Amino acid sequence: MNILKSCIYGFAIMLFAGLNIQCKGNQKDEKSVKESNMQKMETTSIEKRAYGTTPEGENVDKYILKNQKGMEVDVITYGGIITSLKVPNKDNVYEDVVLGFDSITQYTKSSPYFGAIIGRYGNRIAKGKFTIDGTEYKLATNDGPNHLHGGVKGFDKVVWNATEVKGDSTASLKLTYLSKDMEEGYPGNLEVVVTYTLTNDNTLEVVYEATTDKKTIVNLTQHSYFNLSADFSKTILDHEITINADSFIPVDATLIPTGKLADVTNTPFDFREAKMIGKDIEAKDDQLKKGMGYDHCLVLNNQNEGFKLAASAYHPESGRLLEVYTDEPAIQFYTGNFLDGTLPAKNGGTYAHRTGFCLETEHYPDSPNQKNFPSTVLNPGEKYTTKTSFKFSVK
Ligand code: GLA
Repeated sequence: MNILKSCIYGFAIMLFAGLNIQCKGNQKDEKSVKESNMQKMETTSIEKRAYGTTPEGENVDKYILKNQKGMEVDVITYGGIITSLKVPNKDNVYEDVVLGFDSITQYTKSSPYFGAIIGRYGNRIAKGKFTIDGTEYKLATNDGPNHLHGGVKGFDKVVWNATEVKGDSTASLKLTYLSKDMEEGYPGNLEVVVTYTLTNDNTLEVVYEATTDKKTIVNLTQHSYFNLSADFSKTILDHEITINADSFIPVDATLIPTGKLADVTNTPFDFREAKMIGKDIEAKDDQLKKGMGYDHCLVLNNQNEGFKLAASAYHPESGRLLEVYTDEPAIQFYTGNFLDGTLPAKNGGTYAHRTGFCLETEHYPDSPNQKNFPSTVLNPGEKYTTKTSFKFSVK
């Protein structure tokens, strides 16, 4: 009887153990199926939300682009503005590293071009005038005696049409805008397409395209203010900047190029080796005085090599590294000198002096009036195409 009992027990234990192993096996299978489904699900995503309305009553949407790693870029259709850009620090904590506002009201009320697409002409045009084939065109003088960033209602203040474009490993937002003939004084109907693409290697690509039906000028750029610390109460003076430029464009008191290029050697404008923004910014230098800090266009080396690494910004404390690639010939390096603590910051507080920096890839300022600068003229039948990438990583 005891022998029989032991046998039954033994058999039961073996059966249980067998089932258990089988069960665990099934669990494992389920887990790996779940994991591979997750991997399939964890591709990029695009989400659309209503953002608000402009004072003229136009609806503005917000698009949230996310990649597989968790990087997130928020873009609104007003000005094509990047309102938030979340990237990881060295502890893999994702935080917002661009200046901006909490609502459409502040963007439409007063913004120093935070995160916006700039056009038709990024940067300054002397006295707001230029001539094409003997015809003089007059633009708004919205920056002292000069024209700045497209005028009174530039591309940063119009509502763009948006189309979502979803790839397997990319999330794109294609923004289009028709700038009518003589809008802001510029000739030609200009059809503009700006495509933001977020890739899985934490890169935000910006592709600018434009065509015209009349000879005109075009110089588009992106005006994001970065603060890689993600703490907007801190200045950007501790960021280390590299710019691959042997020369820069000296300006007059109204920030219009003198027409000459200057060698950066032995000047505060030498960023060929990584240098903290704060290192020379207070140096006794006539150009820094005119810009009230850095607000200058640096002329990129190897301009004929096409798309290349042009600049980088590194924030040692967070470990965040931003690399800027472009096919444009120059970069306006601006250190938020006009921020003065009056504009409300996201999540409270205000934006104090030098709490953000811009790396605006572009053609040289005032090119339409400077014979020796690369041309910014666009002819009918030609296509303006340029690309800039902002690549984020940690080190
Ligand atoms: C550009 C200009 C600066 C300033 C900012 C916006 O970068 O070069 O002088 O106007 O835009 O405040």
